[in-house]
This record gives sequence, C-alpha cells and structure tokens, in this order.
Amino acid sequence: MDFDIIHLKEVDSTNKYCRNLGKRGRKNLIVISDVQSSGVGRLERKWHSQYGGLYFSILLELNEVKNKNENIGKLNFIGSISIYESLFDYINNASQSMGDFNIKTFGIKFPNDLIINVKGNNKKISGILSEVNRDYGFLILGIGININNDIPRDLRDIAISLKELTGREYDRFEIFNKFIDRFKNNYHLSDSEILNKYEKYSKTLGNYVKIITPKEVIIGNVFKIDYKGIYLSTIDGIRHVNVGDCIHLR
Ligand code: BTN
Repeated sequence: MDFDIIHLKEVDSTNKYCRNLGKRGRKNLIVISDVQSSGVGRLERKWHSQYGGLYFSILLELNEVKNKNENIGKLNFIGSISIYESLFDYINNASQSMGDFNIKTFGIKFPNDLIINVKGNNKKISGILSEVNRDYGFLILGIGININNDIPRDLRDIAISLKELTGREYDRFEIFNKFIDRFKNNYHLSDSEILNKYEKYSKTLGNYVKIITPKEVIIGNVFKIDYKGIYLSTIDGIRHVNVGDCIHLR
C-alpha cells in the first residue's frame, strides 16, 4: 500500500481538503498541513492546530478498506495503535529521567484518544476524526498529534504536547514517517492481532468509566471493546454503546 503525500503550509482542515479530493476520485492519499485554520475534532469540536503539531488525513477507497478491514471501526483501531507505537519510545525514554509521569499510564482512551496521566490528570496527546462517504466510496482518517505546539491555556488541564511532557522538541516528520510505517504494517494484520494490540494499549478496558452519549450518561466497568463499541457492566445490567465521551473514574 503506497500513499501520495500532499504537504500544505496551511489549510482550513485536512479532512475537508481530502473530502474534496475524494469526491474527485483520488485515493491512497495523505494530506498533511503545518497549520489548520479550522481544524475539527470529534463531536463537532474545534481542534486547535497551531504550528508545531502533526495534522494529517488519510484518504482511502471504501471498498478496499471494507473488504480488507470490514469497517471504519477497524480502521480507527489501526490508527490509534499506530499512533501509540510511533510515540511510545519517545515517551518511555523521557519517563526514565522525569518524575511527573509514568509510561504505564500512556495508552488509548476509548475510542481513539492517546492519553497520559500527569500529576493525577489524564491529558490528551492525540485524537482521530474519521468519516465515511458512501456516495463517493471513500473514507478519511484524520489524525492530530500534539508534538511541539503550544496547548491553549484553557485546555492545559486536559491536553498536553509531547514537547511539554518530555521537555524537548521533536522532528515532526520523523514521527510522521514512523506513523506511516506502523500504519502500513498494522493495516495488514488479522482482526485478532489488531484487537490484541488495542486491548494491550487500552487504558479504558477494565476501568470504571462514565460514558456521555448524546442521549444519556452511563457508568460502569468496561469488560470489552471491539470495532462496534464499548461494553459496560452497570447496575442496570450490560450496556453497549458506540459513541460518546469517555471519562475514566479511576
Ligand atoms: C478528536 O477530537 O480527538 C479528533 C481530532 C482530530 C484532529 C485531526 S487534525 C487532522 C484532521 N483535520 C481535522 O480538521 N481534524 C483532523
């Protein structure tokens, strides 16, 4: 699997840029931008995209992905395990010389956030926004990773950059290339191999959590996560949801 790469200095959103190219029949393409003026996060939130972070979107043909990977849920898993693997060594190395965090708290928060606990607070380093277009037959995996970028003051309790975490700057393209390498490898793994990795890296599985969906709030112990969502054991019995904000309660 090979990708054409388009590198932009600035764009409104790499997902939007990919969407326009997808409608014109392009596929197997990655659009990366140094800055996004209107970066978008999950649940229609804003994704702050100042210079220094990694902001890119992968455009894939829906049929190809559907045959090989079944659905968007699987592609999201491939994305998050690949981000985890491309950041792990940097964070692990720094954790040995810095006392503010423990590498054991670095992992995936449902569905696809990469988090780490710093002085008692879970902070987000990376997120994924995926979208499917069945009319034109493509899908997009949009990835944002806080590398050297400053985090806006009002988000500092819940988000962190790799630079702030580890006290040094990084070559964004070294990390980007690591990601592409991991993504290509993980893309060809079997379902059970992907799920095994996701379970191993997950910080949500086995945890007591609150899930805030557009309709309700569910609290319970997470005993399973798969491409279809998250399964909780609650005082009202077993619940399954596929969308929502997840808050770790311990
Ligand atoms: C989230 O809310 O966790 C998802 C954030 C996804 C941000 C990325 S940055 C590249 C791509 N372009 C966007 O506008 N959003 C995604």
